[in-house]
Amino acid sequence: MAKIGALRESAAGERRVSVTPETVKKFIGLGAEVAVEAGAGEGASIADAAFAEAGARVATRAEVISGADILLGVQGPDPASLSGVKPGAWLAAALNPFGERARVDAYAAAGIEALAMEFMPRITRAQSMDILSSQSNLSGYKAVLDAAGEYGRAFPMMMTAAGTVSAARLFVMGVGVAGLQAIATGRRLGAQVSATDVRSATREQIQSLGAKPIFVENVAGIEGEGSGGYATEMSAEYQKAQAELVSSHIARQDIVITTALIPGRPAPRLISDAQIATMRPGSVIVDLAVEAGGNVEGAVPGEVVVRHGVKIVGHRNVPSRLAADASALFARNHFNFLSAFWDKEKGVPVLDEEIGDAIRLTKDGKVVNPRLLG
Ligand code: NAI
Repeated sequence: MAKIGALRESAAGERRVSVTPETVKKFIGLGAEVAVEAGAGEGASIADAAFAEAGARVATRAEVISGADILLGVQGPDPASLSGVKPGAWLAAALNPFGERARVDAYAAAGIEALAMEFMPRITRAQSMDILSSQSNLSGYKAVLDAAGEYGRAFPMMMTAAGTVSAARLFVMGVGVAGLQAIATGRRLGAQVSATDVRSATREQIQSLGAKPIFVENVAGIEGEGSGGYATEMSAEYQKAQAELVSSHIARQDIVITTALIPGRPAPRLISDAQIATMRPGSVIVDLAVEAGGNVEGAVPGEVVVRHGVKIVGHRNVPSRLAADASALFARNHFNFLSAFWDKEKGVPVLDEEIGDAIRLTKDGKVVNPRLLG
């Protein structure tokens, strides 16, 4: 019978938790035992008693670690905090393998089989296991609310006896999962929304949400789509054309939300300080890529800064700002992943090659993932 252990997150500002009472019950339904570190759900408003009621054993960190065959986390735990872990135990979490390479080596040295949930392949059957999608969706929503909170004006057009308030103009740069949700949220709040991306496939998606696509035309290689539906880095010619297009558009925007990421590379720079200077004072930019190097010049991780009268919002870990829902979805991603591979006779999950090899970072004391070895 597999023993699953959920750790209390230790990263600064992290409020999410990797299991919920709902997924505890489901794991028990599969025949697993679940131990949850005391206080693990606090930041997501889940009491220890709720975990216990669902059938989990609420325990100390040392007990959770030493008993677990499978450790679950949101972010990767400090390897130094995992002493006593069983050799061969799995650790599944968002392990940030490129940013935290030394930790990956330490997991290997501890004999842990580390599984990076953000390396989940983008294939149909893995959609329900994809933490990047589940968390980005919430980030896109929250980015718009954060912008609305910082903006000294209203989003919708309002006709009042005292006169008309005009609708805010909101521009979304990068229309992946977060960008699509930002468009939808902006529209619901009554903003006039436009959006851009390097992947030409997004044009129709933007239109179908009732927003206006802003696209570079007539430049070679504008498909912009690499493997797994991710963006590729664009040519110098494209980048120049994009900068010109964006310059004239940005000067007329009140709110800009940037979400552009390129896997394994720093985030592309989309907005320069000179472009910010053309915006109306009181405008707001939210840089969702701030932790990956930032799409916006001058954005500071964890801060709201003002440049040329424009607020630049750089909150870290935006999903954690919606900790309850983000945890519910993250926990279901973990459950959907493990349950899809559950071997009923053995009572443990057995991974297949396509998904196992994609997400496994370490095994038998070695780093084994080709993306880290290449
Ligand atoms: P992401 O978080 O890697 O990047 C965000 C967006 O920024 C992307 O749309 C990307 O094209 C765009 N971008 C990159 N460089 C840019 C630039 N210089 N200028 C403007 N935009 C730029 O992307 P995300 O949200 O992970 O989604 C990428 C695609 O993968 C989407 O089509 C999504 O539907 C698909 N997807 C498929 C899944 C599956 O089948 N399991 C799961 C999740 C997403």
